[in-house]
This record gives sequence, C-alpha cells and structure tokens, in this order.
Amino acid sequence: MKSFNSSSRLFVPGRINLLGEHLDYNGGPVLPFTLDKGLTAVWRPRDDHRVQIYSQGQPTALELDLRDLASHFDVNPWYRPSLAMLRMMMESYPGASRGFSVDIASTLPPAAGLSSSAATEILMGWIFCRVQNIDLPRSELALAAQKAEHRFLNVRCGIMDMWAIAHGRKNFITHIDCSGPIHQYLPLYPEPWHIVILHSGISRRLESSEYNDRRAACERALARLRQRHPITHLAEAEPEMLALLEDPIEFRRTRHVITETQRVYQAIEALTRGTIEALGPLLKESHASLRADYEVTGAPADAIAEAANNHPACLGCRLTGAGFGGCLVALVFKNEVKQFERDVLENLRLLNWDLQPQIIPVESGEIRED
Ligand code: GLA
Repeated sequence: MKSFNSSSRLFVPGRINLLGEHLDYNGGPVLPFTLDKGLTAVWRPRDDHRVQIYSQGQPTALELDLRDLASHFDVNPWYRPSLAMLRMMMESYPGASRGFSVDIASTLPPAAGLSSSAATEILMGWIFCRVQNIDLPRSELALAAQKAEHRFLNVRCGIMDMWAIAHGRKNFITHIDCSGPIHQYLPLYPEPWHIVILHSGISRRLESSEYNDRRAACERALARLRQRHPITHLAEAEPEMLALLEDPIEFRRTRHVITETQRVYQAIEALTRGTIEALGPLLKESHASLRADYEVTGAPADAIAEAANNHPACLGCRLTGAGFGGCLVALVFKNEVKQFERDVLENLRLLNWDLQPQIIPVESGEIRED
C-alpha cells in the first residue's frame, strides 16, 4: 500500500447472509454478519479538488475532479462503485470541494457475492465525509450507498448489504427488519459449529437484468395481492394468499418470500435460545427454495450444496447472497472442517464437475478506523 504522509486507515468489512435471501427488497427480515475480510484503505485529504484512487491489483489508478464527476462514465469496472458513491455524495453536498487520495487493498474474493461493491461504497462515503467534515449517521450512509447502486449502477438492490456493513458488529449477527429498516443484534455463537464459506469458484455477475427481474416479479405479485389485502410488503403475505396468484412465476417467487420469512423467524428464535442445531434444516430448506422457487442457484451451486448437505459433519448449507454463482454458507462441526473440505472437493471431483470450489476461512469483523 502507498503510505501517504499523515494518513488515516479505515477497514470496511464484507458481509455474508446467514439466512433471509431476497427478502430485503420485499420488506422482510435478514440475518447478515460482517466479516474479518474486507477492504483496507489508507487515505489523506488533498489541497485541491482531485480524488485519486489506487487499488491493489488494478493496473491504473482512477483520477477524478470532484466538481466534474459526471464526465467519468467509462471507468474500469472495479472503480464503478467508488465513482457511483462519490456522485451520490456530491449530489447531497454540492458545495464539497476538498479532494483526497486513497489506496485500497482487498481481502475479499472479487465477484463472490460477499458485497465488495457495497463495502467500497461505504468506504468511499465514509472517507468523503471525513474529508469534508460531514457528520453523517451510518444509516444515512447506507441509504446513500443503496441509492448510488440504483441511480448509477442499474442494480435495484435492497438495503441489506449496505446496512449490514455500516452497522455490523464483531461477533454479532445484525438482524435487519428491512421494512424499516431497523436492526438489532443477535449473538453469533455457533459452538461447536463453525461458519464456513464455500466459494463456488464461479464469479458472480449480479446481472442487473436477472436480479432486477426477480424484484420486478415480486412487485407485480405485491400489486396483485394488494387488490385484496392491505399489505405493504410482500414479506407480509400469508400462505393462503398464494391462491390469488395465477402467474406461476409470481406464485413461486412469492412462495419463496413467504417460506423464507418464516425460516428467518425460526432462526431468530434458535439464535436467541442458543439451539443452533435448529438452523440446519432451515439452511437446507432455504437452498431448496432458492433453487426451485426463486431459481437463482444454478447447477454448480446445487452440486456443492448437495455434497455439503450430505456430509455428516455439516449441519446445513445454502447459497448466500443474490445467487447466479458466488458463495454458499455452511455450519460445519468445528473439529472436522478440514475433513469436510477434503470430502466435499473429492465428491465434486467424482461428479466430474469442472469446478474449483474453495473454502474461505472467515471470522466476524466490523468497521475499524485508526
Ligand atoms: C444482493 C443484493 C441484496 C439482496 C441479496 C439477496 O446481495 O445486493 O440487496 O437482495 O442480493 O438477498
């Protein structure tokens, strides 16, 4: 990393979601937690209007003029979330003019569905605020990051990733009620289980079209249900309302939203009581629902989930994040993680899947500034 004179350092974590997939934009509950893997930035203010962003692993830096951000649209994809967030911040604070230099290093695998984009936005917004002396609450920062995705990156994402990253606390799960959004913390103590992330090896492309399609189908279903029932969010739908949905896509998407919401409430009970074993079937059912009803898993992730879920040391495993590739999350008996890894990889090799899944060791983490 470049060491700027009198620089400050900021760590912003990635996140994974234990349970509650595709519920955030449906006003439902989600259970993400923040990781010890993420982005570390070293930064310092400048005496001009320029922003210089260096990123480890990128051949070139991005250089911008804060007063002229709109002219930089054709940037290297890695820099797009940074630019989107800066544009968002400049819209809210058009008088801001002090530039900064920042050097970013990442320990998150790229395009793995661990929210490197939301982490980048939070990081950029945080530094922008420090430099301009703006005291922005974390919730506002998260909302600005979500708006940046909608406005400038064409992804109509929910609030989960940004909210989790901004508020996440080490050793806690952030239970977010996305209808607010509001949150509270739940203990993350899976002893004797260990949380394991399996990267499918397939770079997740949050194809804005596929993701936005899922969201659009949910919006259509909600509009239909609202003709008969006074609900505000699809996550409030009850199983008997499904009969009103004639379109098979809307039916299946809504069934996932309803059953996933129920699973999250059961998981909250298990986490609160410390009866972690109850999470196993919930994780398995969640994967099955994401496969059959939400149709976001894909054959490789299904093969990995099956291999993991059939392993005696695994309590439960499911796809985490948006889907279309990316990562799975599993609870694995602590003393057998290595054996689990060997067996799952061997199993997949026998299936002749051309996959290089990888186990990513993680602990929990949180934003750190020094
Ligand atoms: C992505 C989006 C989130 C959420 C998840 C699916 O990570 O950014 O808003 O919708 O997918 O749960």
